[in-house]
This record gives sequence, structure tokens and C-alpha cells, in this order.
Amino acid sequence: MIFPEWTTFNLVFYGFCLILVLGIGPVEYFGMSMMNYSKFRKGTGLPGWVGMAFLYFVPIVVLTIAGWSYLLNATFVQWAVYLAVVLHFMKRVLESLFLHRYSGPIDWSTTVLIACVYSLASGMLGFVNREPLPAPDLWFSVGVFLFVVGVAGNFYHHKLLADLRKNSLEYFIPKGGLFEYVVCPHYLFEILIWLGIALLSRHLVAFIILFFIVFYLSARALRVLKWYHEKFKDFPKDRKAILPFVL
Ligand SMILES: NC(=O)c1ccc[n+]([C@@H]2O[C@H](COP(=O)([O-])OP(=O)(O)OC[C@H]3O[C@@H](n4cnc5c(N)ncnc54)[C@H](OP(=O)(O)O)[C@@H]3O)[C@@H](O)[C@H]2O)c1
Repeated sequence: MIFPEWTTFNLVFYGFCLILVLGIGPVEYFGMSMMNYSKFRKGTGLPGWVGMAFLYFVPIVVLTIAGWSYLLNATFVQWAVYLAVVLHFMKRVLESLFLHRYSGPIDWSTTVLIACVYSLASGMLGFVNREPLPAPDLWFSVGVFLFVVGVAGNFYHHKLLADLRKNSLEYFIPKGGLFEYVVCPHYLFEILIWLGIALLSRHLVAFIILFFIVFYLSARALRVLKWYHEKFKDFPKDRKAILPFVL
């Protein structure tokens, strides 16, 4: 792992990140994170596809600005990290525009908050990527593999969700793929995407982002599982939240 120089600024900054990572799970689980979209949306705001496409596009711009000084002469590893993050966010922009069928709006504050969180993550990754891993190694190849599996699995389960909405914008019990075991398999594959990116980058920052996402998505998936049990009286009792048979 590539650690930063432990200056006073970095100690304070990484300490702050650690607090965010440890706090995000309980904050999301108890509904205090202000991520009021989808099943937990409140009130009105932007059309879902507009807000989502916007909040996934801004981090691409921030990443590109952060990497501007080295991108024209970038090494293979620097390009790999940059392109993986761009690919992930661009996929989400395209899915928001052309795949998902949102049943309602996303409010402004949630849109801006999520755009800021993602931009902070992509900006930090772009910044530390100026001092990359010297050369690809075995873990780098594992990272490429996990990233590709993550992207494919994430897309596949988004498609299954979109197919539920062919004739109506209601909520249904999802079927197929890992939906037979967990309510949020798409979140599990999102975690694989970020594990892959962390293995490509190998910077401490990338692992901090990964753990933030693991805690956030696990907590949200537990909330979603509770929501399904409340909404559907016949909901399968053995279905888990995010990790088949475990959580
Ligand atoms: N990195 C992170 O921290 C992070 C966090 C959150 C999301 N994400 C990414 O964004 C992706 C989508 O996340 P999300 O939280 O928006 O997922 P989601 O709440 O499951 O929604 C995805 C889409 O499926 C629809 N949907 C969900 N459940 C449905 C059901 N039971 N029946 C019919 N339609 C249903 C939603 O419609 P409605 O909008 O109408 O509910 C929405 O259009 C994730 O898989 C992940 O890739 C990343």
C-alpha cells in the first residue's frame, strides 16, 4: 500500500476521513445520512434521471481536473486508474439516462450532497494518482479482474431491476441472479468495482474510499431489507441484505 507523507495536514485530513468511514454505517442505517432518494425519497425535487446523471457526471470533471498535470504524459498505471474511475461513473451516467426507470424525483440537497461526496473521492484519487504504483503486478491484474466482474454484475442486476418496471412504476419483489439471495446484489458488485480500483491504485486513499462504500452500502442494504419486509407481507424470510447467506 502507498502511504502519504505524515505531515500535520495529512494526519488531520486522514483522521477526518477515518471518522467519516466509521460514522457512515450507523448514520445511514438510522436514516440520518440525508441520502433521501429511491425508496427513502422525501418530497419533490429534480426528475430522478436528471439528478442522478448530474451527480455521477460531476466527479468525472473533478477527477480530470485533479489529474490534468500528469494525464498527457501518464504511465500505464495512471491511465488504468483514471480510466477505471471514468468508466464507472460514465456507466452510471448512461444507466441513469437510459436504463433506470425512476418512480419519482430526487431532492436538490441529496443531489448536491452525493455529488460532493463522489467528487471528493474522485478528486482525492486523481490527486494521489500523480505518484502511481511503479509498474503493474499480480494484485493489479486481480484488480482489473474484480473491476470487470463488478461492472458486469452491477449492470446485470440494474437491468433486472429496470425490467421489473416495463409496465408500471410500482415496486416489485426482484427476481433472478443474486436477487434470489440478497435484496441488493447490485451494491455487492459496486463494492467489487471499488475493490478493483483500490488494487489498481494501491493508495491509502483508495482503501479509505472502499471501506466508506462497504459500510455505507451494507447499512443501506440492511435498511432496504427492512423496507421489503414492511412493504411485502409474503417477502422471503431467508433473503439477506447484501452478502448471500451472511449479511
Ligand atoms: N458508491 C456508493 O456509495 C453508492 C451508493 C449508492 C448507489 N451506488 C450505485 O448506484 C446504483 C444504484 O443504487 P440505488 O441506491 O439508486 O439503487 P436502487 O435504490 O436499488 O434503485 C435502482 C433502480 O431500480 C429501481 N428499483 C429499486 N428497487 C426496485 C423494486 N423493488 N422494484 C422496481 N424497481 C426498483 C429504482 O427505482 P426508484 O428510484 O423509483 O426507487 C431505481 O430506478 C448501485 O447499484 C451502485 O452502483 C453507489
